[in-house]
Amino acid sequence: MSGVILDCDTGIDDALAIAYAAGAGVPLTACTVVHGNVPVDLGSRNTVTVLDAVGLDGVPVYRGASRPMAQELMTAEHVHGQDGLGDAGIEPSARAVAGDLAAVRIVELARAHPGELSIVAVGPLTNIALALLLEPRLPELVDQVVIMGGAVGAVGNASETGEANIWHDPEAAQVVIDAPWDVVFVGLEATMRTPLTQEQLARIERSEDPRAQLCWRVLQHYLDVYENVLGERSCVLHDPLALVLAVEPGLATYRTVRAFVELGRGGTRGMLVGDLRGFRPDPEDPRAPGVIRIVDTLDTVAFHDRFLAAIGA
Ligand code: RIB
Ligand code: CA
Repeated sequence: MSGVILDCDTGIDDALAIAYAAGAGVPLTACTVVHGNVPVDLGSRNTVTVLDAVGLDGVPVYRGASRPMAQELMTAEHVHGQDGLGDAGIEPSARAVAGDLAAVRIVELARAHPGELSIVAVGPLTNIALALLLEPRLPELVDQVVIMGGAVGAVGNASETGEANIWHDPEAAQVVIDAPWDVVFVGLEATMRTPLTQEQLARIERSEDPRAQLCWRVLQHYLDVYENVLGERSCVLHDPLALVLAVEPGLATYRTVRAFVELGRGGTRGMLVGDLRGFRPDPEDPRAPGVIRIVDTLDTVAFHDRFLAAIGA
C-alpha cells in the first residue's frame, strides 16, 4: 500500500480510525473532509486536531463538500457530541487546513500517483462522487476503494433502513456505485459484529499510550450512546474496520452483489440495497457499474488485535 486518502467526517469513530492509522503506520497521503457527523468546518478542524494529537502532524487536511447533493444538511451531534469529539474537552489544534476543494485534491493526487493510491471513505460520499464527476477516469487512477457505508441485510442506524454515511447523501452513494471500479462497502452488517469487550475497554483505559488515551477520552460519549443500542457499556468500530480492511483485506471474505441506493423521498430513502437472493452465479466482475463487494465473513478477533495494538492498548 503506497498511499491512502482518508475521506472522513471526524467524528468519534473517524478519530479512532486516525489513531489506528498512526499506530499501524498507514501511509496517509491526505485527509479530505466532508459534511456528516458535524458540519464540514468543524469536521476539518477535528481531523487536524486528531492527526496532530497522534503524531501525524505532517498529513495535510483538505475541506470538502459542505452539504449533500440533493437534500438538506443533517448532522449527528447526538451521536458524536456537540464538538464531534465526544465533548471531552479535546483542545483544538491551531494548524491550518491545507486547502479546500477536497474533490479537486482527490483528482489531483490520483493523477499524480496513477494506480497507487487507496481511497478509504468513512463519511458521506459527496467528495468521492464529486471527484468522479470531475474525473471519470478516477476508477483507472486508483488502486482500491473501501467505504464504510450501508446496511445490506441489516437494520440501519440513521433510519430503520439507512446507514448514516449513505443516508446523509444517497445520490452521491449511487454515483459511487455506478462507477466502474471494484469498491468494497463495509456496512453495518459487518461493523455491528465488532463490539469491544469489557476487558478490551479496560485495556484502553489503563494504557499510557497517548493514542489510547485520546481514544478513551472521545469514547466516553460513544459508550453512552451505544449502551442504549447494545444493552451494555460498549461500542462498535465502524470507521476503524473499513481502514483496517483496506490495509489487510484478508481479515474478511467478500461477496460480490448488484446494488443500488433507494432514492425515493419516502422512509426508506438512503437504504443501500444489495441483491442477496442468492441466484447463481453472483456477478463475476466487481468493476461492473452497479456491482459492489460487501463483507461476508470477518475475523473479528484479528481485527480487534490489530486495532488495539495500533492504539497501544
Ligand atoms: O454509520 C456509521 C458511520 O456514520 C461512521 O462513519 C460514523 O462516523 C458516521 O459517519
Ligand atoms: Ca465517519
